Amino acid sequence: VIKMADLDLSGKRVLIREDLNVPVKEGKVTSDARIRASLPTIKLALEKGAKVMVMSHLGRPTEGEYDAQYSLQPVVDYLNDALEQHVRLETDYLDGVDVADNEVVVFENVRFNVGEKKDDETLSKKLAALCDVYVMDAFGTAHRAQASTHGVGLFAPVACAGPLLAAELDALGKALDNPARPLVAIVGGSKVSTKLTVLDSLSKVVDQLVAGGGIANTFIAAAGHAVGKSLYEKDLIAEATKLTEAARSNDGDIPVPTDVVVGSEFSESAVATIKNVSEVTDEDMIFDIGPDTANTLAKIIERAGTVVWNGPVGVFEFDQFGNGTEAIANAIAKSNAFSIAGGGDTLAAIDKYGVADDISYISTGGGAFLEFLEGKKLPAVAMLEKRASV
Ligand code: 3PG
Repeated sequence: VIKMADLDLSGKRVLIREDLNVPVKEGKVTSDARIRASLPTIKLALEKGAKVMVMSHLGRPTEGEYDAQYSLQPVVDYLNDALEQHVRLETDYLDGVDVADNEVVVFENVRFNVGEKKDDETLSKKLAALCDVYVMDAFGTAHRAQASTHGVGLFAPVACAGPLLAAELDALGKALDNPARPLVAIVGGSKVSTKLTVLDSLSKVVDQLVAGGGIANTFIAAAGHAVGKSLYEKDLIAEATKLTEAARSNDGDIPVPTDVVVGSEFSESAVATIKNVSEVTDEDMIFDIGPDTANTLAKIIERAGTVVWNGPVGVFEFDQFGNGTEAIANAIAKSNAFSIAGGGDTLAAIDKYGVADDISYISTGGGAFLEFLEGKKLPAVAMLEKRASV
């Protein structure tokens, strides 16, 4: 693909699609990771002398309606401070917008526009007409074929990848295409069903696939143990067995926890009890992996050449069920492996245990990160490749 870093942008109208879909509470941004990740791109465009237009979605508003709770104003306030220059929010931009050299204008939530989500051609052409160069930099939204992430790129005079998107693709490619072995993937979260495709594609390429959280419970049940009242998916037990067999036939494995931490209710004050995995009773709910399992996994991670992490292995929001996730986070941080992590809960865990600086690459993608792990071609990337090939 063509890269923004290689282009002369002096005096050009440059329209950058970022993923500034961040949590907002009472008009303030509560987690700025995605905005911080996009700052180098915006700064580079300014350094190159561009007239900078930035667009993003925020949340999932009803199309065709302005809705203040989904306004990008809090993001614009943040950018004002971070860039130390006046940043303007433009609500009315589809029929043309004035931008001066070295100015930054942010377009109001692109999902207020009719046709955004269905990748409408008329809308895409309007967006394309606003710029000389379209920069796709929103890795977090690269799995959506929408007017601002895909359609606009088909019609803009030039379409290129921004530095953040390029860095994400490089890091993920390094982890999966030709990884330093052993390749270890940790997939946590509550349900096998939402991660089935990821588990399926990873089970074919990784050396060790560590299942955590509710997902692990289904694997524990598949191994013939009782899981009591734990969250698990009975109808996916056969699938879990198949995944384990697939991993083993590939010289890999999906290790089943040997011990677990149980509680009797899902609550902040639930008492945590460590049990051997064969001792779980009808009343128990499994909320974390046990210390022996955490130790075993830490050793697997220590020996890894590459680690891919998506999803906590326990209910880490409650401290008494957070030891497993903390142990995984620390093991990744200590390991010399090339490590990559992504997903909202994973990032929250990384923050909680303060290991962000010791992870090789933290992705800004949630759904996009998963789709990449699933081996899917992201539509926005396919568009950039198509534009680069003609
Ligand atoms: C995300 O938060 O994963 C991205 O911003 C995409 O948002 P969406 O799932 O609403 O398309």
